[in-house]
Amino acid sequence: MWISVNLTFDLLPNVTAPMWNPRLADLSEFPFRRLAGLLAPVAPPQGLGILDLGIGEPKHRPPSILAETVAAEAGSWNLYPPPNGTPAFREAVARWCERRFDLPPGTLEPERMVLPLAGTKEGLYMLAALAVAPRADGRRPAVLMPSPLYAVYLGAAVMAGAEAVPLAATAENGFLPDLDALEPDLLDRTALFYLCSPANPQGVVASGAYLAKALGLARRHGFLLALDECYSEIWDEAPPTGGLAVAHAAGKGFGGLVVLNSLSKRSSAAGLRSGFVAGDPDFLAAFIKLRAYAAPVQPLPLMAAAVALWNDEAHVEASRDRYRRKIDLAERRLAGRLGFYRPPGGFFLWLDVGDGEAAALRLWREAGVRVLPGGYLTPGTHEPDPGERYVRVALVHDGAVVDEALSRLVSTLC
Ligand SMILES: Cc1ncc(COP(=O)(O)O)c(C=O)c1O
Repeated sequence: MWISVNLTFDLLPNVTAPMWNPRLADLSEFPFRRLAGLLAPVAPPQGLGILDLGIGEPKHRPPSILAETVAAEAGSWNLYPPPNGTPAFREAVARWCERRFDLPPGTLEPERMVLPLAGTKEGLYMLAALAVAPRADGRRPAVLMPSPLYAVYLGAAVMAGAEAVPLAATAENGFLPDLDALEPDLLDRTALFYLCSPANPQGVVASGAYLAKALGLARRHGFLLALDECYSEIWDEAPPTGGLAVAHAAGKGFGGLVVLNSLSKRSSAAGLRSGFVAGDPDFLAAFIKLRAYAAPVQPLPLMAAAVALWNDEAHVEASRDRYRRKIDLAERRLAGRLGFYRPPGGFFLWLDVGDGEAAALRLWREAGVRVLPGGYLTPGTHEPDPGERYVRVALVHDGAVVDEALSRLVSTLC
């Protein structure tokens, strides 16, 4: 069988292998594929059961209004959904943003300032294709991003042909990039700056003053600030402020800013693939033109479910409470160990284990617990690497599973 396949190939005249975009070679495998590769040759212990705290996929049950609304809207599966979403979707998102971020009613115009996304991931990726433009002075555009980071920022920058500039976010700088250290020359050729608050993986929340400074830089140097706020509804003591609130307080509309959010974490509905981008109307006017060519559009029954979810806070409060109780469990197990701190936002622990990859392997081999090495969340350009000492632990399962996993983690690593 194999021989005949090879022969057929050899006999084809003038076969030229297609040339893929070589920029892809600058990216390593996506973190979860790297993790699968690391763990594949190693067997977990027999009979203990595997506990997966690697991926940030919420296991809380989404509220029943999701499935009920999809069922009720079944008559619209035959229709192409509009790329800019339904008026009801844009309205629900605009009003939710105003309620959540204390904006006066009517501040966020649904028609010009909101677009649906198939989850924040695709929006975060695609916006670089628009924000990164060739420069008149011939210099290479730069895209700034924290490190560690959500790998999509890096992939988007690299594939758009920009210079990706990771900014170390370490314990020393409060796990947020040091904005004061950015050189004017770099800022001048910056096309796009990705920031994430609450931050994945460290769970820190950027203050209003920090975000205002980042937005000020964006406006002064003419780049786009893209704020990834997909963990904004998972918080411990206080709701994180957001980019829209900061821009409104600065008083010049939403120019230079887009925020991205989704129902994946807020409503435990990662499979719905539903998010939005809101902010700069000029950017969004161009983005909708691009998206008409390239973007996945959410089907109408799912968009209707998204409307129902953005209009409901009760399920979000209940879910937030469950995360809080899991962080209580973690505090009981880990206080004073492995650099544990209560993350103000999000549902990850960022534990200083000395060597993240070795610890992840050990946890898998000895305890059947899957966690993500912190070094898989950095581009690997800094020395020392701001992720390599850490593992990221996702508290996504129910309390009993999380507690069991943390108990195994403590007895393996401490
Ligand atoms: C920081 C961050 N941004 C964006 C995403 C993508 O989320 P989604 O596309 O489901 O909204 C994730 C997913 O884990 C994430 O951790």
